[in-house]
Amino acid sequence: MSEALWTAVDDYIADLLIPADPALEAALAASREAGLPPIAVAPNQGKLLHLIARLQGARNILEIGALGGYSAIWLARALPAGGRLITLESDPKHAEVTRANILRAGLSDVVELRLGRALDTLPQLIAEGAGPFDLIFIDADKQNIPAYFTLSLKLCRRGGLIIVDNVVRKGAVIDADSLDPDIQGVRQFNKLLAAEPRVSATAIQTVGVKGHDGFAFALVTADL
Ligand SMILES: C[S@@+](CC[C@H](N)C(=O)[O-])C[C@H]1O[C@@H](n2cnc3c(N)ncnc32)[C@H](O)[C@@H]1O
Repeated sequence: MSEALWTAVDDYIADLLIPADPALEAALAASREAGLPPIAVAPNQGKLLHLIARLQGARNILEIGALGGYSAIWLARALPAGGRLITLESDPKHAEVTRANILRAGLSDVVELRLGRALDTLPQLIAEGAGPFDLIFIDADKQNIPAYFTLSLKLCRRGGLIIVDNVVRKGAVIDADSLDPDIQGVRQFNKLLAAEPRVSATAIQTVGVKGHDGFAFALVTADL
């Protein structure tokens, strides 16, 4: 299997199942024009996040890592009336693009962007009593996934779901000797996940337009 074939299959799936959407397409175009890296979730992954949020009946969603707001738009559209999504972003330029994309998508009343390093903004959310969240999507810097997961456990309700992106990294996750801090971050997170009695978890590999990677899913099964 080649990356070209994965991409062709993703395009086939997107053409069939993901109707053209001006706000989402404009968000990607504006992100590209602003020079943001092309690291948003793929369209079929965005829709998966959207469907999971609906299945979850999520009213409060937290996202760590906004980039240009592409996944935030997918997730926010799953919310019922009165629902809200908070997205955390450390890069002011990314935050500006996200705000414009969220405004264009008509979601400014639903989505709140917090600018700052998530290691600072997550404890602030905890101190404010901003939770509990029904769904938390972790998709920022990979070295800090273990800390984000630990902090997310304090913010997620029992029955809530924590989703972590990029946990396979082209298979490099199995290299215990890797010197790459991103790989070590993911491996450390996997150890925490395995040892955490308050969640039931799995991870899946994905291939597609974003290459070979994967998501971890942790259902919070006990009160924290
Ligand atoms: C993979 S992108 C997010 C993609 C987005 N979730 C999507 O699919 O549309 C990761 C984002 O996390 C942000 N980020 C990196 N380190 C961060 C930190 N310490 N705190 C908050 N955000 C951070 C980056 O600036 C980048 O915009």
